[in-house]
Amino acid sequence: MEHSFNHPLMRNFSFQSPTKIIYGLYSLERLKDELKKMSYKNALLVTGSNVCKTPGCSKIKEALGVNGSFVEFNKVCPEPDTKVLAELAMLVRKDPPDLVVGLGGGSSMDMSKIASALTVNEKDPVSYFKGEPLIRKGPPIMTIPTIAGTGSEVTPFSIVVEQNKKLATSHYSLYPTVAVVDPTLSLSASPQSTASAGIDALCHGIESIMSVDSNPVCNALAFDAISNVDDYFERAYCNGDDIEARNGLSMASVLSGMAFTNTGLCLAHGIAYTYAMSHALPHGTSVALAEPYALEFNTPAIPEKIELIAAAMGIDTSCMSTAEVGYECASRIVELLETTHQPQTLDELNMDECEIEPMVDDLLANQKRFVNKNPRKPSREELIGLYERMFEDL
Ligand SMILES: [Fe+2]
Repeated sequence: MEHSFNHPLMRNFSFQSPTKIIYGLYSLERLKDELKKMSYKNALLVTGSNVCKTPGCSKIKEALGVNGSFVEFNKVCPEPDTKVLAELAMLVRKDPPDLVVGLGGGSSMDMSKIASALTVNEKDPVSYFKGEPLIRKGPPIMTIPTIAGTGSEVTPFSIVVEQNKKLATSHYSLYPTVAVVDPTLSLSASPQSTASAGIDALCHGIESIMSVDSNPVCNALAFDAISNVDDYFERAYCNGDDIEARNGLSMASVLSGMAFTNTGLCLAHGIAYTYAMSHALPHGTSVALAEPYALEFNTPAIPEKIELIAAAMGIDTSCMSTAEVGYECASRIVELLETTHQPQTLDELNMDECEIEPMVDDLLANQKRFVNKNPRKPSREELIGLYERMFEDL
């Protein structure tokens, strides 16, 4: 009998998702009890300048004050840079917290994770984003998302920007201990941020399934995440008060976050990193622009996975060729971008085709981890062709 490493029986895998998730509408009401169990004396609340003025933040501060004292750091902005990181490092090293709470979008939650690590790891803060290992585990981390999509509430990743380049770090000690996911906190999110964050969850689900390290557990999580985005994304964008839609997106964020942490992400995330910062695009928007083209490129290599993605999107694929199924999936992503007024081509970003080669070089030099997870290995020429396609409508 011939053994194939692609055969389902031959594929071993591991899965972990150690974060305790407190999920549901008004689950924030359970915060005081959860905090009590964490028995802290000196907490640090990491958040942004807008979120810190919201009623949700007031509730969290009130709860934090019941069981101990806390310090507030509210200077996290979208795509935080090394200056914010350095300030945070100084704060935690001067007055070490025994609990770090990250409240807000992906950036605030990412910063809360690294704040915990920097409390007990004393080297240059940026060095931990450049290969320096995190040796010691910091105080427990609690994440409370106010917008749905990044999955940061359940992942061990942290991202910082240095000289217009995103640097990422990942370590087991960065997993949040507890995530309190209350979809009502996202009711006040603007349509624009709902769109850019929500579509990120879709891309996480799709790329988790496409990854060379996909597995049945993550496929199940990603499948539900994709179908939740397909059902609720446009509703949440068009009517921010639609609590059922907000709930669907919060669930998609958690599910796809758990999935992609275990499988990794592939080509579209890598491509997005080559232009997101230079064109000031929100993360999810930059990835979703590339996703239809990356999906179309990958389709011939992974017909069964494309069928799975199509099923999650509710697409009837009977009598369709694999190429047609891939095209339908890609078109659905474009449709979601259209409804939510997000760019669909590089042309819309006023980019020039002479920027293609430097972006391909950047992708191959600095975003290899995404390319390595991609099911179809692209040559340099194929990547140039893919970027060229991204200048035209699908
Ligand atoms: Fe993402």
